[in-house]
Parts: sequence; structure tokens; C-alpha cells
Amino acid sequence: MKITQKNFGAKIITKLFSDDEILLIQQYATSVASEKKLIQENDHLSHLKWWSTRFDLEFAKKKIDDYLGLDDSGMKLLYFLAPGVKLPVHRDYSGASASNRIRFHVPIVTNDDVKFIVDGDIIKMSVGELWMLDTSYLHSVENNSDIERIHIVYEVDINQKIRTYIPANFKHRLHIVYFWILSFIKLIKSLTITLALNPKIAFVRLKVVWRFVLWKFGVGHIQKNNKNKSI
Ligand SMILES: [Fe+2]
Repeated sequence: MKITQKNFGAKIITKLFSDDEILLIQQYATSVASEKKLIQENDHLSHLKWWSTRFDLEFAKKKIDDYLGLDDSGMKLLYFLAPGVKLPVHRDYSGASASNRIRFHVPIVTNDDVKFIVDGDIIKMSVGELWMLDTSYLHSVENNSDIERIHIVYEVDINQKIRTYIPANFKHRLHIVYFWILSFIKLIKSLTITLALNPKIAFVRLKVVWRFVLWKFGVGHIQKNNKNKSI
């Protein structure tokens, strides 16, 4: 496996925080650590010691928000990964550029024994750096160190500024098509199983999917406008 910083799923944006600023953020992380809650509370990964807390440190938030041109929306948290924890290889729909969303990471406490793998490459994220992560690419993390890894993690809509960081080449576009085909197959499989086990839940999920399709292709917006016109 090669070590690289050229990867379509993970991209360094800039070294955003100085050592002094990182020290302040580390102190903040210590002060809110008692509030941390499991990230995967209700699924097969709920046994993992992987937590999040709020991230309300004004100067640090403002610095990230200003750099990326963000507003108050989106998810802005601190993530804690206990020593020895391994997050298996997976894709996420919520932070995928295909869904017009994206994640950002800023390592606050980490070391060389934390192995972050994206799209087959080991990605070395250092303290204070701002990284973009497209979760439609396969990714996994292993904390092989004896310290708790702490990252600031954002998940936000892709705005004009962020769009400039997203690869615009054929390989990435092909990946997006592949991602949607994979998602569609997974959805059909899950709906078929749910339909057999519990038709009511399957119907609710179908409604959610339908609303998403309307939102994605702007049909809901068109219907709303037409409705307003007819009044
Ligand atoms: Fe993930």
C-alpha cells in the first residue's frame, strides 16, 4: 500500500491552525470530553469506543467557517477515537460529494500510529491541517496508538468555494456514477428485505426515498411554484 497525499477522496486544503491555537483547542476538547456520546449508537458498530461532542469554540469555528465560506448550518463536532479502535472499510452517503455534501477534518490530537485509509491510500493527516474527505470513497481508520485520537469534524453542503476543491476530472465523475449505482442496488436490496419482514416500515422508507428524489431533481420545488401560481 502506498503513502500518498494525492487522492480523490481526501485532499489537504491548508495548514489552518498554529501550535498555540491547537493547544487552546486541545484544552477545549478536554473540557467537553465528559459530554461525549457514542457516534454509532444503534447499529452493528455500537460496541466501538468512538464518540462525539459539541464544538463551540468560537475562534476556531470562525476560522474554519471563514476559510470555507460556511454559514451556521451543517454538522460541526469533535470526534474522539479510543486507542485500539478500528473502523471498518465503508462508504457514507451523508458526507458524499454525490449528495452535494462533504466532510472536513482537522486533527487535534493524533500520531503516526493512526492509520487513515481512503480509496486504498494511507492518508497522513497532521495536527492543525484542514482536510476534505469525500465519504463516497471507501475509507477506514485504525487507531494503533495508545492515545485517544481527536479530530474536529464538519459535514456541510458544498458551496461555491468548496466546489473548487472537488475534482472535476473524468475519473471522479465515473466514480460518482458508480457510487449511485451501488447506492441504488443497496437500496433495492434493503427495501426488498424490509418489505418481506415489515411492509409498513418499507412503505415509510419508500416515502423518504421519494421525497429525496423530488428534492434531488427539484420536482418538489416546481410543484410548489405551480401550486402558488394556481392560487
Ligand atoms: Fe465514515
